[in-house]
Amino acid sequence: MLETLNKIRTQVVSDLETVQSTAELEALQVKALGKKGELTALLKSLGKLPQEERPAMGAAINEARKALQERIDLRAQELKRKERDEALRREAIDVTEPRKLPEIGTAHPITIVMNEMIECFTGMGFEVLQGSEVELEYYNFELMNIPKNHPARDAQDTLYIDDNIVLRTHTSPMQARVMLARKPPIRIVCPGRVYRADELDASHSPVFHQMEGLVVDEHISMADLRGTLDAFAKHIYGADVNIRFRPSFFPFTEPSAEVDLTCSNCKGTGCKVCKGTGWIEILGSGMVNPKVLDMCGIDSQKYSGFAFGIGLDRIAMGRFAIPDMRLLFEGDARLLSQLR
Ligand code: PHE
Repeated sequence: MLETLNKIRTQVVSDLETVQSTAELEALQVKALGKKGELTALLKSLGKLPQEERPAMGAAINEARKALQERIDLRAQELKRKERDEALRREAIDVTEPRKLPEIGTAHPITIVMNEMIECFTGMGFEVLQGSEVELEYYNFELMNIPKNHPARDAQDTLYIDDNIVLRTHTSPMQARVMLARKPPIRIVCPGRVYRADELDASHSPVFHQMEGLVVDEHISMADLRGTLDAFAKHIYGADVNIRFRPSFFPFTEPSAEVDLTCSNCKGTGCKVCKGTGWIEILGSGMVNPKVLDMCGIDSQKYSGFAFGIGLDRIAMGRFAIPDMRLLFEGDARLLSQLR
């Protein structure tokens, strides 16, 4: 039995040298000294010895257990230190390593154009207001002098939420909201998203952007409209661009004009972008229809006004040479990264 004890002892001592982790060491401790371990088994078998040999053997086993426990504890300390050192080395931070720079974002082309326009109009004394994209039909159509049977109300063009509520088809309902809420002089612009039931293709999108403008005061004339839009065009595109007025029709303005801008691609000589005309259509405008003034509680005998609605998407496309409208709405970061 003494021989077995010595064998266990030497085995444990030599195993102690080879264990490389606290986990392995624990396993070794359980195997040698645990409740079901080798020494306990030996102790349990004392009964097989002659009575007189038992005390000495028992003492020898206990002495061995104590000695082994001490060696195991020592080894445990060693291993812990080693494991801590390794962890420190593994987790060390190389403060000299070059840092990965954060990616710098860019404003969306629409946002860039919108901000420039806001800057331009606020510079001329306009106030910026924002309307709701979900709008009552009453403001979107009725107060804009678009009667019930007008084709613009057709469900083919208009996205209806229910019988009375639409996704605004233009920013013009803000004209009515502002005139009903304020007294002249009024000088406001309202940028924002508008919606129409169009299929998405290279030059159409069911959601696009407009900026409405409205000026109401005494003695406002078409010349004021023209001067304002000319200043706007030159501010945004440079002194060499021109605008031209073409007679048009909108139910809420009278007279009405569509306004073209010198094509930014060919500078007016004619190209594919402007279909050879040298001009790009960018907005609708006109003198506020006296009927609209009166419906909105402003005395059309005393006051007059002009209004315009600028399309932002086409301006942004021209400005950044974006060939397809879908690119404006797909949120592909590669588009923005080119604007950096
Ligand atoms: N609301 C018109 C449109 O969406 C544009 C416009 C605004 C025309 C203001 C005249 C005056 O086409």
